[in-house]
Amino acid sequence: MAKYLVTGAAGFIGARVAEMLLASGHTVIGVDNMNDAYDVRLKQWRLARLQPNPGFHFERLDISRREDVERISALEAGEHAPLEAVINLAARAGVRQSVLDPWVYFDTNLTGTLNLLELCRRQGVPKFILASTSSIYGDGAPLPTPETASSDRPLQPYAASKKGAEALCHSYHYLYDIDVTVFRYFTVYGPAGRPDMSMFRFTKWINEGLPLHLNGDGEQSRGFTYVDDIARGTILGLQPLGYEIINLGGHESVKINDLIHMLEDQIGKKALIEHHPPVAADMLASWADVQKARRLLGWEPQVALKQGVAHLVEWYAQERDWASQIAT
Ligand SMILES: NC(=O)c1ccc[n+]([C@@H]2O[C@H](COP(=O)([O-])OP(=O)(O)OC[C@H]3O[C@@H](n4cnc5c(N)ncnc54)[C@H](O)[C@@H]3O)[C@@H](O)[C@H]2O)c1
Repeated sequence: MAKYLVTGAAGFIGARVAEMLLASGHTVIGVDNMNDAYDVRLKQWRLARLQPNPGFHFERLDISRREDVERISALEAGEHAPLEAVINLAARAGVRQSVLDPWVYFDTNLTGTLNLLELCRRQGVPKFILASTSSIYGDGAPLPTPETASSDRPLQPYAASKKGAEALCHSYHYLYDIDVTVFRYFTVYGPAGRPDMSMFRFTKWINEGLPLHLNGDGEQSRGFTYVDDIARGTILGLQPLGYEIINLGGHESVKINDLIHMLEDQIGKKALIEHHPPVAADMLASWADVQKARRLLGWEPQVALKQGVAHLVEWYAQERDWASQIAT
């Protein structure tokens, strides 16, 4: 059984990756700074599910601070089993927020990644996984989008910070032979998902009879991916691959209008749609070409949109007392 460092362990994807690794009997050191980019109750809820597991060790720290990351080295020095991989899922995520406060995005997404790559170099950790994003492809990419599509012109500081992190990973792979897998995730959804993303917001707004704030005409489409599929793919990336950039995304692309109908059916309530102008930082469409993930990892998304949406709707119903208070 191996030992892994998962950053962003209280985050939406990080918590699920940690949970799956623990379920396979591995040891996980989880780190997170528990910032308030969105309601911390969601992070606490996810963390509370991990903490009873004896193989899980949590450290609250900030990956953008060198001295914090050096604390991980100090912890590691006293341990017999070395780290087999760093899975860097901590980030400032979200396209729109990055336009308002680009600095915090660069501190975490770029300097944070640098600090962790340095940890790998110092400690001889052989494997690094970076969460990157489909936002890197900007507008006008072919659909479905392969990894070879241009990512040279990121449209927002968020995408630019991830592009920088990908490039830095390559330097560390070249210089120090660290095996690096970069995953470009496409829109991820599921229980306890991020409240700044449409799935959570729509679920809350329809359930609570609140106006559903729709940017644009709803004809924009997204290739949604269920969180378990993303976590499984990320874990498959722990094998040695050299330096690879791999899309992980939904095979099913859905128009936002159709998604709203699906949620209405499953929740059993009508949405009160309120139309707003499109947001410049949003993309019109996203849809992953996942042939590379299939070829290199044998990965296939397994959870159909309808089934994944049912899990989310069920989770919301169970946690509604507090989930309904989360700001969206
Ligand atoms: N959710 C998606 O649809 C999606 C799509 C593309 C890429 N991604 C990427 O996947 C990764 C995980 O995203 P998520 O949706 O789980 O987001 P999330 O915000 O739920 O999780 C990120 C976690 O990292 C923590 N964190 C942030 N800055 C930190 C710092 N400086 N030090 C320590 N911890 C810090 C946060 O507190 C949070 O718990 C991110 O890198 C994100 O950019 C996500």
